[in-house]
Amino acid sequence: MHHYDAETDALARAVIDTALSRVRMDPPPLDGPRTADELERTAGPTITEEGLGGAEALRVLRDVLAPATISIDHPRFLAFVPAAPTEAAVLADLIVGASSIYAGSWMEGAGAVYAENVALRFLADEIGFPDGAGGVFVSGGTAGNLSALVAARHRARAGRTEQGQSRPHRWSIVGSAEAHSSIQAAADVMDCDIIDVPVDANARLTGAAVRARLEELDDETRDGIFAVVATGGTTNLGVVDDLAGVAETCADHDLWFHVDGAYGGAALLAPSARPRFAGIERADSFIVDPHKWLFAPFDSCALLYRDPDAARSAHTQQAGYLDVLTTGEWNPSDFAHHLSRRARGVPFWFSLATHGVQAYRDAIEQALTLARDTAALVRAHPDLELVHEPELSVVAFRRRGWQKAAYDAWSDRILRRGLAFVVPTGTHEGPALRFCFINPRTTITDVELILGTLDD
Ligand SMILES: Cc1ncc(COP(=O)(O)O)c(C=O)c1O
Repeated sequence: MHHYDAETDALARAVIDTALSRVRMDPPPLDGPRTADELERTAGPTITEEGLGGAEALRVLRDVLAPATISIDHPRFLAFVPAAPTEAAVLADLIVGASSIYAGSWMEGAGAVYAENVALRFLADEIGFPDGAGGVFVSGGTAGNLSALVAARHRARAGRTEQGQSRPHRWSIVGSAEAHSSIQAAADVMDCDIIDVPVDANARLTGAAVRARLEELDDETRDGIFAVVATGGTTNLGVVDDLAGVAETCADHDLWFHVDGAYGGAALLAPSARPRFAGIERADSFIVDPHKWLFAPFDSCALLYRDPDAARSAHTQQAGYLDVLTTGEWNPSDFAHHLSRRARGVPFWFSLATHGVQAYRDAIEQALTLARDTAALVRAHPDLELVHEPELSVVAFRRRGWQKAAYDAWSDRILRRGLAFVVPTGTHEGPALRFCFINPRTTITDVELILGTLDD
């Protein structure tokens, strides 16, 4: 198996051709899911004693399996949080995949880790973090939020130990119901409680509301709180919480301040949105997913700490066989819940190095403008009403007279036609439609096309 012979060379060319033709598609077909039965029927048996041979395995992958995945970079994929990796980032990912890089330690992956750290430093500067800030790229926002919160609790636990205090009755995290579901998932993994704070009329978590909630808690509950989570671009509505206010409250109560910018953090780069993030420079930890609005392929989340030592002492794994790695150099594995890791920050670094920061600022501004223009179309439409004025690149709106079943049927219909992928979302006032703009290839004409089908 491990030979580069004539057969491998033919396969290599076929694989590279397949990858390149996908990269060249502009746009790619939207495609869509198939049932497992259909796939089994079309793919046939694939794991056999003798092997299919590369040409046949590639045929199954290219012609049967790949079309059964929705192209998340299609310009009319507007559901959830789409992706739109640059060609440069995708091509760099091919090199990362081909290079067998272990990017958990400096000793083994110095060049890749250096590039990742340059990209992290760029983000730290955009935030306004101090010189010593640093972190690591993890697989996604869910992993980033968990790792940050584990570091936060570790610091709180260490502080209690230093002061001779025992563990609290229950550990708790403060957040709003608009926080991403991964915060609840992290709390479940950590066996913590979430203390909900109501959002204001603009769906924002505010410093004043956090303060009021802390004050109404009993001493025992308050004693176990170790972090407050604010969101820099909520998933459902794209709202940026009152980061400055929450930072102030956290400072007054000596609480770790985590900002989840998995989706919206990219808007820090856009001059028109930057003021919404005032106060982010006071965060203890921050995440943003390059695989969302920073145009990198899956999977990639930048996790940054103001004080990386707090994370290092929480996450460094200890074992005799790892001692040799303790060289004082930057070991990415020390800053999150992982050990082995892909150099998943390199495609982002490569694309940023290739295109320059201004191209990123422009592309992000483009999505913000498209959201504002879409909101204007929705406002002008007799059957549509906005759920919320867009702050970033999410536009949520209702079709008057439609119930959940009508939204679902419409969503299925337009996917089956290969037109667009848009799914309904739940809001406090019932189901709604939601566009999330990320892709610079999406135009107002795409939006008009989709809105036109709402008359059907
Ligand atoms: C605000 C926010 N946080 C966290 C996540 C989770 O990110 P991931 O899917 O990369 O784990 C998302 C995903 O959309 C998100 O929007």
